[in-house]
Amino acid sequence: MGIRFQNVSFTHAKRSSVRQSAVSRFSLDVPDGQIVAVMGPSGSGKSTLGQLAGGLLVPDGGTVWVDGVDTRKRGSRRILLQKVGYVAQFPEHQLFEATVAQDIGFGLRGSGMTEREVADRVKRAMESVGLPYERYRERSPFRLSGGEKRRVAIAGALVRNPSLLILDEPTVGLDPAVRLQLLDLLKRIRAENGITVVTITHDLQGALECADRLVFLENGELAADVRTAELSPACKIASSLPSTPLIRLLKEFEDVFPGQLPPGLVREQALLDFISKRLMRAKGRSV
Ligand SMILES: Nc1ncnc2c1ncn2[C@@H]1O[C@H](COP(=O)(O)OP(=O)(O)OP(=O)(O)O)[C@@H](O)[C@H]1O
Ligand SMILES: [Mg+2]
Repeated sequence: MGIRFQNVSFTHAKRSSVRQSAVSRFSLDVPDGQIVAVMGPSGSGKSTLGQLAGGLLVPDGGTVWVDGVDTRKRGSRRILLQKVGYVAQFPEHQLFEATVAQDIGFGLRGSGMTEREVADRVKRAMESVGLPYERYRERSPFRLSGGEKRRVAIAGALVRNPSLLILDEPTVGLDPAVRLQLLDLLKRIRAENGITVVTITHDLQGALECADRLVFLENGELAADVRTAELSPACKIASSLPSTPLIRLLKEFEDVFPGQLPPGLVREQALLDFISKRLMRAKGRSV
């Protein structure tokens, strides 16, 4: 399910003295099935953009189309509710049912599914975020750790098999193993269901590993839009780009072997493959 932003602007608290332009003159086309990571400093408009993409906010200027539906059109919200899974920045605030299973299954109410079907879907969603069904289903969502609550919220978005998944800082507060599991999950559901994913994150290496494309915001405007596979090791994309150990290593390599590193090595596995191939070749020459 694609998203198109055309010259979009949005201001919060329009009628108050604290009115704040959050997104301005923003245009972007996200094709069906792409994983896009939205990055940028705090206050740059990322969460606002996520809400505009899910039709939870409508633009003041310009247009947002989600799956060809203009989000300002009457009735679009109801249509999008069926297709979009949205996990807010602090999803733990959205939990409200008595048990984990009820909370996750909430989105399936009124869908005409039998109890058995609902339980199956809930179980699958829970297991995909690393919450064993039997262990967690009867627990109160309010008595879980921060990371567990976050996983319940993500399972609640996945349970309806959305065509577009919007995650606002999904990995914050998750332990490293669950963080990796979640990044793998995003790639897997995209591969299996062709789902479009917008993930808002400060985790650059995580974004490089799982996203097809990185979109950087600065003061509500599009500052850079790059494809991960084309990212050069020299990483001259945005001066404000934060660094990661892997990027620092690539920069060192680039100094020693200028122009010899192919694009796409910003992913850990790609870099490891490249290095081991080179080493094997060097070894072949020395014997
Ligand atoms: N409800 C609101 N009322 C007034 N201003 C708001 C509101 N929500 C956001 N803003 C302002 O809009 C701008 C963009 O906020 P937004 O939450 O989209 O940023 P963000 O990039 O998600 O930041 P963070 O990384 O801290 O989550 C900020 O200047 C913020 O202060
Ligand atoms: Mg935010």
